[in-house]
Amino acid sequence: MINITNLSKNYGAKVLFENISLNINQGEKIGLIGPNGTGKSTLFSLILQEIESSKGEVRVNKGVHIGYLPQELSFFRSDIKVPGEIPPGTPAADSVRGGEAGKSERTVLMELTEGDERIMRLNKEKEALESKNEAGSKRYGEVLHELETLGFFELEHKAEKILSGLGFKERDFNRPISQMSGGWQMRALLAKLLTYHYDLLLLDEPTNYLDLNAALWLKDYLGAFRGTFIMISHDRAFLTDVTNYTLILENGSIFKVQGNYEHYEEIKAQKRTHLAKQSKEQDKKMQQLEKFVARFHAQPNKAASVRAKRRVLEKMGEDKIVLPPDPRQSIHNFVFPQTRRSGHRVISLEKISKSYGDIKVYEDLDFEIVQGEKAVLAGENGAGKSTLLKILAGITGIDSGNRIIGHNVDAGYFSQTRTDVLNIENTVLQEAYSAAPGYMTEESIRTILGAFLFSGDDAEKKVKVLSGGEKSRLILAKLLINPPNFLLLDEPTTHLDVDAVDALARALNNYEGSVVFISHDIYFVSSVANNVFEVKSGRVRKFPGTFDYYLEKRDTFVDTEEVKKSKTAPHKPVDEAREKAKVEEHLRKAEEKKRKADNSLIRDKINKLLKKKKELELESYAKARALSNPHFYRDEDTAKQYGRRMKEIEKLNLEIDSQIKALENQII
Ligand SMILES: Nc1ncnc2c1ncn2[C@@H]1O[C@H](COP(=O)(O)OP(=O)(O)OP(=O)(O)O)[C@@H](O)[C@H]1O
Ligand SMILES: [Mg+2]
Repeated sequence: MINITNLSKNYGAKVLFENISLNINQGEKIGLIGPNGTGKSTLFSLILQEIESSKGEVRVNKGVHIGYLPQELSFFRSDIKVPGEIPPGTPAADSVRGGEAGKSERTVLMELTEGDERIMRLNKEKEALESKNEAGSKRYGEVLHELETLGFFELEHKAEKILSGLGFKERDFNRPISQMSGGWQMRALLAKLLTYHYDLLLLDEPTNYLDLNAALWLKDYLGAFRGTFIMISHDRAFLTDVTNYTLILENGSIFKVQGNYEHYEEIKAQKRTHLAKQSKEQDKKMQQLEKFVARFHAQPNKAASVRAKRRVLEKMGEDKIVLPPDPRQSIHNFVFPQTRRSGHRVISLEKISKSYGDIKVYEDLDFEIVQGEKAVLAGENGAGKSTLLKILAGITGIDSGNRIIGHNVDAGYFSQTRTDVLNIENTVLQEAYSAAPGYMTEESIRTILGAFLFSGDDAEKKVKVLSGGEKSRLILAKLLINPPNFLLLDEPTTHLDVDAVDALARALNNYEGSVVFISHDIYFVSSVANNVFEVKSGRVRKFPGTFDYYLEKRDTFVDTEEVKKSKTAPHKPVDEAREKAKVEEHLRKAEEKKRKADNSLIRDKINKLLKKKKELELESYAKARALSNPHFYRDEDTAKQYGRRMKEIEKLNLEIDSQIKALENQII
């Protein structure tokens, strides 16, 4: 599908990769790995022909339809809100990605069912032929067949399944995408990429915006997926489960190995062990030879043999086996410097309420953090974890109640949408300076930046060109430059490579201040949290223990507060005959209204079922046509699959008929 030949890319003196050659073939499910900043996302941009290579070329076969999930919503291109697909056959650069999703009022479901230009064009043609009564024509058959191949008839069903898997609630299906948060827009885009038939998917860290449940669902989905994709990820467990090839980008070269990530690690370890063994043997041999030479070099009768041994030694020296250095270049250990100690009570929220429009996120919530606590906010996405964190940070206001900051508390906030805390027009150094207290020297700032791998020229880079992981590193460096004693971290490990996640977990373990954080990285949560707050439907429950403790207890936990509340719930006084009559009249009217509403609801349902039935019939017809066409389905698997589906449709239709009957009986 894609041929890359002698490709090189550099930014100024910095060489990302040199002379790499590579083919991507159909059916490959590839994991692309490498430390932060090695050029993984850049390689995607080159394949998409968004940027130019320094040398060499990338050839995409004609007609290959690529779907692309970027690493983050564009920081600086406000014109493109939600990147999408590349229309087929277009010379990418100027047409890359239908950005309409972010701008238009399209709902999530519309984007997934009407968002593909090819399908919409064919569907229009189908309808035009139908209205001209040309449903018997050859062209009509062809159109149906093409729609069939593109999965048109299963689209809605498939879209709903994928959306649910990725964590969308049914009520969100019909929300306009432009009204959703960045993270949810990314999920909608991912759902779209999975719904349509793309020849190749380029997924840049697709789990970054997912909560745990959605990530697990995606793992199963991609595991069973039969298409082709390249996926960048730092999540090893995820890669191991879904890929069958691994691409490793490090030290300017790229390697492709057959097998998943775990397999790659095994090969690498084996190779290293083998090499180490060989090198040891070589050393031993050389020592023996040297001993021989040292002992006999002065004896004339051994001169010939000493000469021969010397030659062997020389040769061995030339071919000396050297163990390659461990190429991982990530941030190593760092420690948060000592900060002044805060009072015992770090922050408390008293009876606070918060709504967005008519959505009530919190009502009368009490919450408290004490010194030394390392608390994780757990719970589904959309439950209000980020809102709570922002309320704690003082970034989001509250509608009522009190937010009380403890004595000597300095809070530092790491935002999930990093634009809140980074100025993209600054250079790395300027950005670091902006966090520094007045007395800090440039030298000490550069030292800290160096520890986060921004050394020399890297410190002069603008924030907007940094890779995902580099931006995360810079925020951490800023927190270290002016260390607060209360850290509020929203998904701090997102984009970080494995070693960097480890380093952060260790640093937080040794940190003496207090922390409240959100993370979907189980490993990270388990190694940092000493308290868990579960956020669910506007309520927060505290589990005083580690994350494992929480997992063990969460289903059996009884909230004493809640029990008390339900016992003391006030009951409403109802009495007096007059009142009663009034109420009855009111009820009767309400019932009448309800009956009408119910009836119209039932009719709606019936209409929907009829529509569904029609669609199914059409699908069945299209499949039957495809099966009867000797040129198309030679492939037995597909034929079997079609046969099964047609049987299923027959059954579904019978079910629909009986549902319609039952509904008709309910109309009163
Ligand atoms: N326009 C640019 N000018 C200068 N340097 C750039 C530019 N664009 C990217 N870079 C640098 O190129 C390097 C590779 O960036 P890229 O985004 O491809 O990394 P990555 O491998 O995807 O990293 P991550 O795992 O953090 O996402 C980074 O060091 C980045 O700062
Ligand atoms: Mg990247």
